[in-house]
Parts: sequence; structure tokens; C-alpha cells
Amino acid sequence: MKIAVVTGASSGIGKEFVKQIAKRYRTLDEIWVLARRKERLIELAEEIKSVKIRCICCDLTDKRKLLKYKNALKKYNPSIRMLVNAAGYGIIGKFAELKEKDNVGMVELNCSALTRMIDLSLPYMAKKKANIINLASSAAFLPQPSFAVYAASKSYVLSLSMALNEELKKRHITVTAVCPGPVDTEFFDIAEIYNSVKLYKRLLRAKPKAVVSLALKDAYHKKTVSVYGLTMKGFRLLTKLIPHSFIVKFIK
Ligand SMILES: NC(=O)c1ccc[n+]([C@@H]2O[C@H](COP(=O)([O-])OP(=O)(O)OC[C@H]3O[C@@H](n4cnc5c(N)ncnc54)[C@H](OP(=O)(O)O)[C@@H]3O)[C@@H](O)[C@H]2O)c1
Repeated sequence: MKIAVVTGASSGIGKEFVKQIAKRYRTLDEIWVLARRKERLIELAEEIKSVKIRCICCDLTDKRKLLKYKNALKKYNPSIRMLVNAAGYGIIGKFAELKEKDNVGMVELNCSALTRMIDLSLPYMAKKKANIINLASSAAFLPQPSFAVYAASKSYVLSLSMALNEELKKRHITVTAVCPGPVDTEFFDIAEIYNSVKLYKRLLRAKPKAVVSLALKDAYHKKTVSVYGLTMKGFRLLTKLIPHSFIVKFIK
């Protein structure tokens, strides 16, 4: 059984990945979708007609709940053609102003759960050609005061993805880190619980459809990093040319 696995499938970028994978990869037998909100996953499964959607409702930060995924892998022994790690969140605010559960929670989901998903999935990844697509962010390109833990967690995702891509080349597995700037999703409902996002970030929001379309194209062409839009490409270049210690003074 050939499958794709998508975390964070109940909304935003993850949900868009499920829709586009279902359209583009017609040889898949199933797409496994993971998130906490069951009703959202069921709704998505009903919407998609071209491939069977298997809903695995769980909190990815809870190791015991993740057993559902582990057990399903054992039971069906699938060949995973694509793993998309889209579950993640960020909260805007200074480190000391956020609660411990907020700061640590971002690391637990964005870093630990993502790492665990790769660890559980790798033994089932196809021998010929497979993709791991990790949602990092343009926040990964440099430290960000007032978004410190989120940016650091996404730097982890970017670094891990680039290193794994080299390690897994012999197995023909490509690892792509997707690094968009602001995207128009429910992400900001959580990001803005204590503080509002800066105006320029509000104006710059890309559509999930375009970000995901490019990410799938880049992953297909074995790119390690996928950056949507000229502004974010320019931003990435800037972070390579100018010392981070200088830029951080202007993005507080
Ligand atoms: N939107 C942006 O501006 C932006 C920019 C760059 C990168 N990103 C990254 O893109 C990814 C997707 O974000 P998005 O914009 O699509 O945000 P979103 O619409 O808020 O989606 C986040 C997804 O993560 C899932 N999730 C959250 N906590 C979870 C948990 N404990 N266990 C399982 N699933 C959990 C949510 O599902 P449930 O609530 O149902 O569990 C939801 O499906 C994230 O990694 C984010 O950091 C977003």
C-alpha cells in the first residue's frame, strides 16, 4: 500500500498539502492525515474523493497518543512515498512574557514531535524515491527577538532537514524544508493571543495554495529549501550577506 502522511492536516498549509497531493499523486492508495481536531479531519476526508483518507486523530506532543500512528504503521506496513510535517505553531511575544507552556510547547511540537514523526516513518519509507517535506519558516533564517523560540525552533527544522537530506541521499529520499514568510492561515489566531503581528507581516501574507504548489514542485525537483515569493527570497539573501547581530536590531 502506497501512502502519503500529512500532519497538521486539519487546517491551513497541512490541509492544502492533502488537497494538492490527492490531485497530483494518483497512484497513492491512501493519505494518512494527523491532527487533534477529529471533526475537521473527517470533513476533509469527505471532501476528497480521489483517494482514501485515513484520519489519525492525536496530539503529536503526546507520545502515548502517537502510538495510534505507530500501531497503524505496524498493522498495514505501508510504503510511505511522502511525509509532510506541517503541524506547528508560534506565539508572538518576548520570552519572559510568555508562559512556560507556550515557550516549551513550541519546541515540543515544532521540533520534538516533528523529529519523532520522521523517526517513526523512516523505516516505512519507499526504497526507490520518497520525500520528506518539513514546514520550517522564513523565521528560520535568523534569530527573531519577540518571536525567539519560534524562530529558533524553525532554525532547528531547517538545519535538520538539510543534514538529513545528505544522510538519506543513498536511500533516494529527498528532504525539503519549506520556508515561507507569512501565510494566510489560522496560524495567526494562536500567534496573536498576546501581541499583534507587525503590519508589514499582515500585508505580506501569501496564499497557502501557492506556497504548497511551489513546495511540491521543489520537492519533486529534489530541492533542499523551498522559499515562496521574491520578498522572502530577498530576505533570505539578506540574512546570508549581513551579520545577524546587525539585522536583529531592526526586527525587534
Ligand atoms: N501561516 C504562516 O504564516 C506560516 C509561515 C511559515 C511557516 N508556517 C508553518 O507552517 C506550518 C503550518 O501552519 P499553518 O499556517 O497551516 O497553521 P494552522 O492553520 O494553525 O495549522 C496548524 C496545524 O497544526 C496542527 N496542530 C497544532 N498543534 C498540534 C498538536 N499538538 N498535535 C497535532 N497537531 C497539532 C493543527 O491541528 P489541530 O489544532 O486540529 O491539532 C493544525 O492542523 C506550521 O509548522 C507553521 O509553523 C506557517
